Amino acid sequence: MMSEYSHQNLAGRHILLGVSGGIAAYKAAELVRGLKKGGAEVRVVMTRAASEFVTPMTLQALSGNPVRQALFDPAHEAAMGHIELARWAELVLVAPASAGFMARLAAGMADDLLATLCLATEAPIMLAPAMNRQMWQAQATQENAATLRRREVQLVGPAEGEQACGESGPGRMLEPLQLLDVCNTHFAAGPLAGVRLTVTAGPTREALDPVRYISNHSSGRMGFAIAAAAAAMGARVRLVVGPVSLPTPAGVERIDVESAEQMLKAVLADPGQIFIACAAVADYRPREVAEEKIKKQAPQLSVALQRTPDILATVAALENRPFTVGFAAETEQLERHARAKLEAKGLDMIAANWVGERAGDGGFNSENNALELYWPGGGESLPSGDKMTLARTLMRRVVERYKKTNGADKSHAED
Ligand code: PMT
Repeated sequence: MMSEYSHQNLAGRHILLGVSGGIAAYKAAELVRGLKKGGAEVRVVMTRAASEFVTPMTLQALSGNPVRQALFDPAHEAAMGHIELARWAELVLVAPASAGFMARLAAGMADDLLATLCLATEAPIMLAPAMNRQMWQAQATQENAATLRRREVQLVGPAEGEQACGESGPGRMLEPLQLLDVCNTHFAAGPLAGVRLTVTAGPTREALDPVRYISNHSSGRMGFAIAAAAAAMGARVRLVVGPVSLPTPAGVERIDVESAEQMLKAVLADPGQIFIACAAVADYRPREVAEEKIKKQAPQLSVALQRTPDILATVAALENRPFTVGFAAETEQLERHARAKLEAKGLDMIAANWVGERAGDGGFNSENNALELYWPGGGESLPSGDKMTLARTLMRRVVERYKKTNGADKSHAED
């Protein structure tokens, strides 16, 4: 994570901070302070419920601008009308975004100033959800979140952890410093500014019974490093990730899944304009999942397995497919197998790495790696290094090939 002194991309930016009702509203004060420190111009709009948790006076003092609350306020409208305010914003960040606010936004309501501004603005909208875990997991909230994502609203968080209500689970607002990182990354002008990129990472788990599963040693590090490198280049990154315990890189939308089937569904919801399959997806799953824990009785147990869906091949076969990059994890004949996968799945690029004994200090669950890149008619060796450095180099090659291929071949998804 960046330090609070490294938010240089915020300088001079117009950020409209929306604060809706919830206990996390008190964190808005620190957020405003950080945005100002980064050099942003901040105007705060609060919902009526928000002012039950933090006073407009506090946010006014910190932002240096009057805080707006009412839609029909002649004094404020005379100074800067709400449509002007909507146009002024380069980014609308709503933090915290309550379940109620998300529902109103998803429904397209214009029943208060903040919801109206969100409808009236052309600026990107970012929401930092904050609510009780049950409310976050409720089907209605999840459907609202999906609707908003489809409309290009970026959801950052929520994080998991202890909640004000004493429960624990997903629903905590990201910390102000994390939100500052997200805003800073948002304004990073880079070669992938505005490009939607989806990356898979980590292992999948294929259930055998309620307590056992088939999986592998992937830690998610390589995929997370790619997500961070792509976000730093300005891409809007979705990270679809199997069970791993790594913090989400700044500015990245994370979707947690368990099985290959779930990963496929999450990927197909938006494969992006660039898709990178770094996950170690289980190739087989048990044909049947036992309803109860399998008892230790027979000296031997045979389990019938069936193929999981091939996520990479499915994406590569889409009609309006993204620029598609696969990985190949090999224990022998690296180039031969990787090139075979490149061709068989019709990929734009493949990054091959050794796993098992020949991986040295690279491959699964390690800090380092080495990659052999192959694309139709070319290739390049990326020598051993830490996964973050490798991811940056890999992403530079992806950008070069993406721009070249996209110029020549319009079959890749474009906005
Ligand atoms: O997570 P780390 O600990 O950092 O380790 C990184 C890594 C070794 C997992 C990573 O660098 C890597 O090699 N990822 C791909 C692992 C893999 O499953 O390789 P594969 O050769 O079996 O699969 C080929 C490609 O098809 C991969 O892009 C894979 O994501 C994809 N695939 C495979 C099976 C399947 N059902 N669906 C898929 O999309």
